[in-house]
Amino acid sequence: MENLNPESNLRNFFDSQDLLLEKQNIFPGEVFSHPVNFDTGIRHLLPRYDEMLDVIVRCVPKNSDRILELGCGTGELSLKLLHKYPNAQIVAVDYSPRMLEFAKTKIDAAGYTNRWTEIEMDFGEWANNADLSPIGDGFNACVSSLAIHHLSDSMKLKLFQKIRKNLSYGGCFWNADPVLPATTGLAEVFKEIQQEWAISQGTTLAEVRAKMGTSNPHGYSNQDQLASLSAHLEMLTTANFIPVAVPWKYYKYAVFGGFV
Ligand SMILES: C[S@@+](CC[C@H](N)C(=O)[O-])C[C@H]1O[C@@H](n2cnc3c(N)ncnc32)[C@H](O)[C@@H]1O
Repeated sequence: MENLNPESNLRNFFDSQDLLLEKQNIFPGEVFSHPVNFDTGIRHLLPRYDEMLDVIVRCVPKNSDRILELGCGTGELSLKLLHKYPNAQIVAVDYSPRMLEFAKTKIDAAGYTNRWTEIEMDFGEWANNADLSPIGDGFNACVSSLAIHHLSDSMKLKLFQKIRKNLSYGGCFWNADPVLPATTGLAEVFKEIQQEWAISQGTTLAEVRAKMGTSNPHGYSNQDQLASLSAHLEMLTTANFIPVAVPWKYYKYAVFGGFV
């Protein structure tokens, strides 16, 4: 019988654990050398990853039929949204053809082909110009997770302004991202939490990091460019989101956004 599990199909393709552990040059945000390692790896690396995405899903307006996702990666948030909102159409943007290809395999396998449109594009490019971009407008919600923190602060603000402009009345924007810890002591506390989390998942951070790639700047994205939570809220306010809100926070990670 045909194996419909995309992860195991891709594993067969790479066909040896050695290949999966080979360090690759990747775009900022791809995290792992091979997309096939992302879904498990991110859950080991990031405490409460699913809970964080589930908060975004819950905060999206219930009647959403048009959702924009920025930096969709392997499609984990898209899948949760498509499952919860049967009328939703998603426009999913990512600049990585490898991540998009992996996401598409999963979306197709889940039967959501007609409700998910992928766009290979740098969202910094979209923020900067792109009046003629294929992304479109009039979205009920814009969502993003673990992607926007790769932009500089001035580009984050431009992106928030662009998102605000392309949401319809009553719409909202939710972003899940790491934020700058207030002190180095708090950054250390998060490292302890992360290590304990990895062990509770039956692995270690060293094992997870062995599967990570190395990245150079690409397009508008760079290594982590963290801003504090208050700086994010100020940027959202400047972009005219009213009110702004923080529905979830766990140590260094937060879900924040606002309404139109
Ligand atoms: C850590 S992954 C997160 C994927 C997914 N949102 C999730 O939470 O599982 C970040 C994604 O953002 C994409 N990304 C980073 N910077 C980008 C940019 N400037 N334009 C488009 N995509 C970007 C990366 O290619 C990657 O797929």
